[in-house]
Amino acid sequence: RRWASSLPQLESVDRSDEESGGDIDWDNLGFGLTPTDYMYVMRCSVTEDGGAFTRGELSRYGNIELSPSSGVLNYGQSMTTLTDNDVLFLLTPFLTANLAARCVQGLFEGMKAYRRPDRGGYTLFRPEENARRMRHGAERMCMPAPSVDQFVHAVKQTVLANRRWVPPQGKGALYIRPLLIGSGPILGLAPAPEYTFLIYAAPVGNYFKEGLAPINLVVEDGVHRAMPGGTGGVKTITNYGPVRGLASSSDAMAAICRIAVPTRIVLKAQMDAKSKGFTDVLYLDAVHKRYLEEVSSCNVFVVKGDVIATPSTRGTILPGITRKSVIELASDRGYKVEERLVTVDDLISADEVFCTGTAVVVAPVATVTVGGQRYTFKTGPDTVSQELYTALTSIQMGHAEDSKGWTVAV
Ligand code: COI
Repeated sequence: RRWASSLPQLESVDRSDEESGGDIDWDNLGFGLTPTDYMYVMRCSVTEDGGAFTRGELSRYGNIELSPSSGVLNYGQSMTTLTDNDVLFLLTPFLTANLAARCVQGLFEGMKAYRRPDRGGYTLFRPEENARRMRHGAERMCMPAPSVDQFVHAVKQTVLANRRWVPPQGKGALYIRPLLIGSGPILGLAPAPEYTFLIYAAPVGNYFKEGLAPINLVVEDGVHRAMPGGTGGVKTITNYGPVRGLASSSDAMAAICRIAVPTRIVLKAQMDAKSKGFTDVLYLDAVHKRYLEEVSSCNVFVVKGDVIATPSTRGTILPGITRKSVIELASDRGYKVEERLVTVDDLISADEVFCTGTAVVVAPVATVTVGGQRYTFKTGPDTVSQELYTALTSIQMGHAEDSKGWTVAV
């Protein structure tokens, strides 16, 4: 039975109650999942000649049926448990490319649609960038991907079908979650024969429970988000909850790689950090353990005077679209922006620290605790992060002229 035959059927797009999402408390949205009305689904069967995505369609939002042998369920997580083979990943680029391609059959994106203040309608922020990033990730994972036009068209359809869930101006955004998964059945270790591109959406407010208030991060020993030669720079479903470490590797192999970290789970690390009162974890690189990488769900920047530094994307860092936009906005404002290795010393001597991401937007960091020592940074109205937050969100929400052509009307 084909996977999509069990999709909830679309009767017609519900146009009632267009200006409101039912009983939602728009003032207390947070980043929880509020199910909306419709999702968009498009499939691609792979043949000997390759494969292309055909026309997609909206269907009622609901559970999906997957074959027990779908690629994403069987091999979607296998690369995340690092074993001696993974040490070979680090040492052998050939193996990295091949095994990663076969094992991780799931990519995702995150985007937001805002309600326009003036002439009605909705605004997307640089959706082609998300489409390109998914295509890049798909190439890395040997998956077919929708074209940029197909991707953007599907996002617009999803927004329009769920428009009553786009929060009122200033209350949040409709978060859009495109997924690309190996949905076809496969038993042996190989790419799946069918792929599904699916988009669902949910109204969201602030990502962190602190709201827009500054957050508190911790650097945990022995916890790393990504390995060189792995998929940290690609938005795979495996980058966010995996085991990262080499506990099962021989000491000799670990020594060769100069990596000897206990096996920990990133989600677990995040939960441990929260239970100790921190907002999230700031990860260091897995090899030298002295360069900043990312926070669990966002990129990181440090500010010293008028110099802003952020880790360069060397394969282990996600090339965030908010990151890229903030770099451009900061440079336009006369800051010297450096994409480079950023050390723990750079961090602890910084005036300001902030994070960027679609979900978190631009989040100021109040403190970072490293080796049990708590470092405090400037926050508040007269800060670089506040200036960049205002510059970015004014464009996203339609309060400032979009001279860069970043927004797309729906
Ligand atoms: C986003 O910021 O959109 C992301 O995809 C991060 C996710 C962990 C919420």
